[in-house]
Amino acid sequence: MATKTKINRIGVLTSGGDAPGMNAAIRAVVRTAIYCGKEVYGFYRGYQGLIEKSYMQMQSHSVSKIINQGGTILKSSRCPEFKDKFVREKAYNNLKELGIDGLVVIGGDGSFRGADLLYKEHGLPVIGIPGTIDNDIYGTDFTIGFDTAINTAVQAIDKLRDTADSHNLVFFVEVMGRDAGFIALNTAMATGAETTLIPEIPTTIEKLCEYLLYERRQNKTSGIIIVAEGGDLGSANQIAAKVKERIPNYETRVTTLGHIQRGGSPSCNDRVLASILGYGAVKALLGGRSGVMIGQMQNETVFTPFSEACSRHNEINTKWYDITRVLSI
Ligand code: ADP
Ligand code: F6P
Repeated sequence: MATKTKINRIGVLTSGGDAPGMNAAIRAVVRTAIYCGKEVYGFYRGYQGLIEKSYMQMQSHSVSKIINQGGTILKSSRCPEFKDKFVREKAYNNLKELGIDGLVVIGGDGSFRGADLLYKEHGLPVIGIPGTIDNDIYGTDFTIGFDTAINTAVQAIDKLRDTADSHNLVFFVEVMGRDAGFIALNTAMATGAETTLIPEIPTTIEKLCEYLLYERRQNKTSGIIIVAEGGDLGSANQIAAKVKERIPNYETRVTTLGHIQRGGSPSCNDRVLASILGYGAVKALLGGRSGVMIGQMQNETVFTPFSEACSRHNEINTKWYDITRVLSI
């Protein structure tokens, strides 16, 4: 995990699903590298940019006024070809030709799998920065984008609560998170939702219906059920249909928040996290670290080998699930 290569020219890219705060991370990488007397090349559309040699040399002013912008100025992509060894070899050769001797990858665990292979197969110094709304990456308390995404979801769910209350409706609200329940659990707690369905805590439709009937007996007239995508009971639409079959007099509605959760101006927390991790990634790369993801745990910067960051997962606090239910009686 330590490299002796002297680094003069750094590449940076954003990969996988975009996340608010990726721009703040790019800014931090570019400015720190330039401050340290290095050159930076930004590659477009994640690994696609390495394969197609699509890049721009970045100056300090290239990242002016982007700290507050959602999305990523470097654009992002899913690039399945990168799973092919020969395609990665091509990407490495392109980097070598351009004189890039260190790479910063901003993305999720899929992106780090690719980064790990690039590092292991070709010895290229690579550091990862966790950027995904899902918060599912081992080795950091929070991923860049999560805080903004949950705030966006909370604002939307508060609005749904108004209409649910006015019309005595039960809303099934589907939130993102791939296979993880972080967004669902946090937004459920923050919006006073009646319950949440997350992949980490399996349940059955029967148990859910029992709970909804119990809530009704408590004289509740409306309800918000937060459904994490990727759960084994299916999508919010499917769950609502199954509930309707069993409790026909229930007035239900379904809202899928979708990609709105990935957009928007990053929150203060995400900008700060992105700035610290971007700065730390460049410093670590120049200091000889490689094959690791930088993260922040209990306010300390920490490094986790890609292999570990990809094979383990951040775990939700199951106590929060119980607290959400207790507080919604
Ligand atoms: P995220 O980085 O947000 O988890 P993905 O899982 O879609 O998003 O991964 C982003 C990209 O990383 C993929 O499109 C692909 O280019 C690369 N990648 C993912 N898994 C692998 C793998 N096993 N080997 C090589 N590259 C991978
Ligand atoms: O990883 C981020 C994420 O938004 C997940 O929450 C979601 O499952 C997935 O990406 C959606 O991917 P796509 O952009 O391909 O629709």
